[in-house]
Amino acid sequence: MSQIEWKEQYTLGDEGFDEDIKKIVERMNKILHAYEQPESQKDVLEELRFLGNNLAISFSHQEYRMKKYLYPPYFSHKREHDSFLEKYKKYREEAGKEGELVAAVMKIRGIIEEWLENHVIVEDKKLVAFLKKKEQGM
Ligand SMILES: [Fe+2]
Repeated sequence: MSQIEWKEQYTLGDEGFDEDIKKIVERMNKILHAYEQPESQKDVLEELRFLGNNLAISFSHQEYRMKKYLYPPYFSHKREHDSFLEKYKKYREEAGKEGELVAAVMKIRGIIEEWLENHVIVEDKKLVAFLKKKEQGM
């Protein structure tokens, strides 16, 4: 399956957030490179666990800064993170079942791409604009 193509829009202009998101896409692409080879199934399951950690860390970095600066839509933004992680967890569990790996990785690819398009370039972008104002004392 094809890798996720990096788009310039995914760069938010916040060094920390951008690094987190890049790591997620890189790891997803590494998985997409490996998951169809039966001999790398075990590695893929481990990479999926790391990817889950990358996602949780990225979200917690954002939530920390939202709380620090009392971001008004904190709860709705956090809700999107939480429901994403729930879906991710479900598919990651599916991936570990006999014969389910390929289908589950495809689903994960799907939700990551959806998250880039519907969350990163919409909600995360708004958050970065807000933080820039706050952190520059404007
Ligand atoms: Fe976010």
